[in-house]
Amino acid sequence: MAELNLILLGPPGAGKGTQAERITEDFNLPYIATGNILRAAVAEGTPLGVKAKTFMDAGALVPDDVIIGVILERIASGDARDGFLLDGFPRTVPQAEALATEFEGLGRSLTAVLLIDVSDDEVVRRLSGRRVSAKTGRVYHIEFDPPKNEGVCDVDGSRLIQRDDDKPETIKKRLAVYHEQTEPLVAFYSELGILRRFDGARPPAEVHDHIRAQIATLRLEDRI
Ligand code: AP5
Repeated sequence: MAELNLILLGPPGAGKGTQAERITEDFNLPYIATGNILRAAVAEGTPLGVKAKTFMDAGALVPDDVIIGVILERIASGDARDGFLLDGFPRTVPQAEALATEFEGLGRSLTAVLLIDVSDDEVVRRLSGRRVSAKTGRVYHIEFDPPKNEGVCDVDGSRLIQRDDDKPETIKKRLAVYHEQTEPLVAFYSELGILRRFDGARPPAEVHDHIRAQIATLRLEDRI
């Protein structure tokens, strides 16, 4: 069977992390999330983290030359050689072009780009209520997906925190950056015929059902 090489695309707060948790489990795929990789680097104070922190705190993108090498290396490594779910990369046209060049060289191809669509108003509502486990990264929402006990992760009892970039002014900046720098990728991947669009305003379980069905269809078509 061909590799399942998937990209999750969508504005901040569309539910990419929420869906990724389910899709990686369904299809047993390694999950490569640039935001998580960068936040871990910041927490550990690595050279990558030091470079990334000011950009992230301001709601801006980390420069292409900082992120491209890190992610391409990760995709070419061990577990991702047979397929992956990529979340948060590419986020600019130069990043998409770098990925395309790398894949051409390796004789690999993307299976699909899964676009989760939501309005700006919904993004603001979701991100201001988001809480994340400090330890596992498991995502909650104080209203739409609350933990059983307030402020505590259901899975391992760790403390739930609010991300630094989930403050109202930073959310607005991240949305503006998305529309300006990342949204052009919708046309980029549409032209390649691999974009699949999902209504992210539906409840998480429904969005998941639609994505899973679409991936299952792609797999079936591949086998025929
Ligand atoms: P990153 O961590 O990738 O942030 P993001 O793309 O802004 O996405 P989020 O994680 O905020 O949202 P999500 O779509 O995963 O939503 P979630 O599932 O949590 O990147 C952070 C920063 O890193 C960037 O700003 C940038 O600085 C840097 N960076 C990363 N990649 C980079 C790159 N390639 N180049 C340069 N810089 C880069 O859901 C949100 C909330 O909504 C949750 O509370 C959830 O419970 C709730 N929710 C989810 N789905 C639903 C639903 N269907 N209905 C109701 N509520 C829902």
